[in-house]
Amino acid sequence: MKTYLVTGGAGFIGANFVHYMFKKYDNIKLINLDKLTYAGNLENLKAVENDSRYTFVQGDICDKSLVEKLFKDYDIDYVVNFAAESHVDRSIREPEVFVNTNVLGTVTLLNAAKNAWQTDDGFKEGKKYLQVSTDEVYGSLGETGYFTETTPLDPHSPYSSSKAGADLVVKAYFDTYKMPINITRCSNNYGPYQFPEKLIPLIINNCLNKKPLPVYGDGLNIRDWLYVEDHCKAIDMVINKGRLGEVYNVGGHNERTNIHIVKTVIKYINENVDDSVTEDLIKYVEDRKGHDRRYGIDPTKIREELGWEPETMYEEGIVKTIKWYLNNKDWMERVTSGEYKKYYNKMYENK
Ligand code: NAD
Ligand code: DAU
Repeated sequence: MKTYLVTGGAGFIGANFVHYMFKKYDNIKLINLDKLTYAGNLENLKAVENDSRYTFVQGDICDKSLVEKLFKDYDIDYVVNFAAESHVDRSIREPEVFVNTNVLGTVTLLNAAKNAWQTDDGFKEGKKYLQVSTDEVYGSLGETGYFTETTPLDPHSPYSSSKAGADLVVKAYFDTYKMPINITRCSNNYGPYQFPEKLIPLIINNCLNKKPLPVYGDGLNIRDWLYVEDHCKAIDMVINKGRLGEVYNVGGHNERTNIHIVKTVIKYINENVDDSVTEDLIKYVEDRKGHDRRYGIDPTKIREELGWEPETMYEEGIVKTIKWYLNNKDWMERVTSGEYKKYYNKMYENK
């Protein structure tokens, strides 16, 4: 029986990971430590809240005594650190919280794990700390080429620089203490439970409410999209089979321009939900500051070493995703009420 400490499990990818793990394994224990920021939502985990394998703890990964107590109370085998401030636009407005959570929170977790797992001659067998990182740490690509694990780090936003900082600290714990760690760097995820500040759920929500669809700059920035379950599968594989100290890039070679994504959503909604939703809703707005032009992952290492392959192709995944939001309009309504409205109006007031 393995015990996982998952942080940020009430957010988008974390919640999908919790569901993925409970579907796949009967014999695990999972503790979810989440601060429940604006992005954390226990509704995402309703289906597991009474599961005897599951424990929820509300708290901050920066809270040293709480994190240390978790390691005392439970014999934790794996830490999977999803907890982060994750939205680039927010990081441009308020960088400090990104450094606090993403860098200092990571160090707090690493220290507590190290203290619990270290022995006189190394580390206890079978332990691992996995840092969920992002392709954004590599910066931006030109028209050709891909990010490999040896691409130099060159982050541009406060968000990506805080994630890169955290990655370097994680690596330092391997280099210095030989602490058992892995780092995964995944491309853009999409799927159920994504907070509608991010492109795909924001566009779906605005289409359904016939609000303008804000497209930054010329709409030709490229992201490499991966269905969230395929990311969860990769993390599970890296925990079980990843070579200690290694970084694994995760991506399924699915590059799309932003405008392509927006038009795909419009077309689906126009044909299946409301034919008054058309491309007339598209509104080109001021570009994001420091906007990375293109991301593209080379997943050769994880495929060849661990046998990971994405299972959900974009054409299938995007329809599944749009349908999920259509079937969960009440979820969308709840998460977009209150604070979200203030955020949205502030973010887009001049656009
Ligand atoms: P999210 O914003 O949806 O969720 C973040 C979760 O972390 C929330 O539940 C929030 O309450 C929690 N959290 C925030 N600060 C915390 C703190 N101080 N202590 C405890 N919990 C805290 O994020 P996401 O999109 O699910 O991303 C999860 C992780 O995956 C992040 O580390 C992100 O950098 C990484 N990542 C995301 C993507 C993507 O496309 N979304 C791609 C690659 C990597
Ligand atoms: O690449 C992985 C990263 O993907 C993760 O590390 C981040 O946590 C995650 O938020 C995501 O970052 P992006 O900045 O790529 O995602 P976002 O959904 O914010 O934007 C996707 C693209 O769409 C980007 O080029 C900006 C553009 N965009 C975004 C919004 C919210 C728009 O044109 N209009 C919008 O309203």
